[in-house]
Amino acid sequence: MIVLKNERDLEAMRPACAVANAVLEEVAAFIKPGVTTREVDNYAAQRIKSYGAKSAFLGYRKYPCYVCISVNEQVVHGLASDRRLEFGDIVSLDVGVVYNGFIGDNAKTVAVGGCGVAAQRLMDVTERALQEGIAKAISGNRVVDISRAIQNYVESNNFSVVREFVGHGVGRSMHEEPQVPNFVEGKSSPKLRPGMTLAIEPMVNVGRPEVQILKDGWTVVTKDGSLSAHFEHTVLITESDPEILTCREKVLSRLKGL
Ligand code: MF3
Ligand code: CO
Repeated sequence: MIVLKNERDLEAMRPACAVANAVLEEVAAFIKPGVTTREVDNYAAQRIKSYGAKSAFLGYRKYPCYVCISVNEQVVHGLASDRRLEFGDIVSLDVGVVYNGFIGDNAKTVAVGGCGVAAQRLMDVTERALQEGIAKAISGNRVVDISRAIQNYVESNNFSVVREFVGHGVGRSMHEEPQVPNFVEGKSSPKLRPGMTLAIEPMVNVGRPEVQILKDGWTVVTKDGSLSAHFEHTVLITESDPEILTCREKVLSRLKGL
């Protein structure tokens, strides 16, 4: 069942998404050579709390951290540790918060200080792939139109999309229907309708698409060790253009006390 959000729901969900985006940008600005990923997670915890929000990830299926911090060949769900970030690393940050009873979910990959041209191209292509997908998030289209746009853009740039993890509906729960794959599957695909809220999140590898999970039970890495990037927005399907909910500029200024 796909949960459509009405205007009252959206009045609560817009601020949740704005907070998620504000925290993501603050955590991204905290990234620099020499900091440990545990320090990053602690900083994220502090920023989330400062808005009166809660992490949507901590405790979810026993997930042990506030945010996901995935370095280089780590794709998603990287755990905080004593690892120090080094100049030239790329770090995928995934931030989901609960606020007003709704979840905002977003992610981006950033370089630590700077990075090589291949890593920069990977990040650019992944971010652009997300925008290509969002551009298809239009009432009357199907979910597969989003998937196809992302896959085509990524593959025409000679990178690959991860199959095992997908985007999703999001609202009062973190994972609602429908699934939003970053590739075209043979299955029937739901029609997009106003009021649907989707987390669109391409995960893109420089090399092969296959991934595996480390012994910690969480960290997803590329099987071939190639670099991976991840960008995510929570998006509302409307009667007209898609509304990117995790864009804090649009909403945060309207929020009292933030
Ligand atoms: N953005 C990710 C997702 O939508 C974050 C989940 S991390 C988890 O699946 F730890 F909470 F699982
Ligand atoms: Co997500």
